[in-house]
Amino acid sequence: MADPKHFLDINLVDAGDLRTIIDDGIAVKQARLGTPKGTIDPDAPLKGHALAAIFEFPSTRTRVSFDMAMRQLGGDTIVLNSNDMQLGRGESIADTARVLSRYVDAIMIRTDDHDKLQELAEFATVPVINGLTNDSHPCQLMADVMTFEEHRGPIKDKVLTWSGDGNNMVTSYIHAAGQFGFELRIACPEELSPDPRALKWAENVGANVHVSRDATEAVTGAHCVITDTWVSMGDDAANRHNLLSPYQVDEKLMAGADANAIFMHCLPAHREEEATTGVMDGPQSVIFDEAENRLHAQKAILRWCLGAS
Ligand code: CP
Ligand code: NVA
Repeated sequence: MADPKHFLDINLVDAGDLRTIIDDGIAVKQARLGTPKGTIDPDAPLKGHALAAIFEFPSTRTRVSFDMAMRQLGGDTIVLNSNDMQLGRGESIADTARVLSRYVDAIMIRTDDHDKLQELAEFATVPVINGLTNDSHPCQLMADVMTFEEHRGPIKDKVLTWSGDGNNMVTSYIHAAGQFGFELRIACPEELSPDPRALKWAENVGANVHVSRDATEAVTGAHCVITDTWVSMGDDAANRHNLLSPYQVDEKLMAGADANAIFMHCLPAHREEEATTGVMDGPQSVIFDEAENRLHAQKAILRWCLGAS
């Protein structure tokens, strides 16, 4: 039996396959324009398929977009809170993976520890999808790349600036910079620098990734400015607001970017912390297109994982 096609991290998927997924996401979105959201796709490529979606952390976008993606593709989702599973009482990840693989066709998991995701993938005989860990958030990156390209054309050689915490989103942005060929400038406090393993990966593959302490300099001429919450799930909030306040994305910072720059944020946001309401609701913001694109990008990811593209 062939190895299942997992979607664990952007740097672990072939760059050509990533391009196929983005193009498929845009195509499936276009094909459904004007269609009521509950309508099953006419060719129902995932009819007879089921997804188990495991959540060890809260979620709005990931939960609803995966479920709706499966419904629109003709399949089903079983949403599982780990506290309601034997996993929450100490059953091993490995045994959970083996058992779920006997029932469902794919597993999505949102968890704290990236090792749990990797163990699930090691023991599952069906595709496993990373729905966010403390280390990375690759599904969100696929929606972000799709959103950028819908608004500003090919992302290759464009300049994207991150201002804020060097968190799990940043790791996936670093991977995406290498795989899609854009320049990534990361402005963050030294104490909240990106994962050194991701930076090492970027260096090894020759990705155009730079880390600095100066948000104003980093946004100069950027085609996109991105930020995220200052306190991620699982973080200790202590001192983060003091460290991160110089990295807030406000109207003044946006004015230093390219005149046509867009603003992205994966949401959920804490308005007036990492970004002002003026920026979030302003003319450069594409945050709700970005949220919508989770649905379309994930349909393409599911189709890729299940060989239904
Ligand atoms: N962006 C994102 O993953 O949102 P949720 O936490 O609501 O799933
Ligand atoms: N960095 C955030 C992303 C939420 C979608 C977190 O991990 O909480």
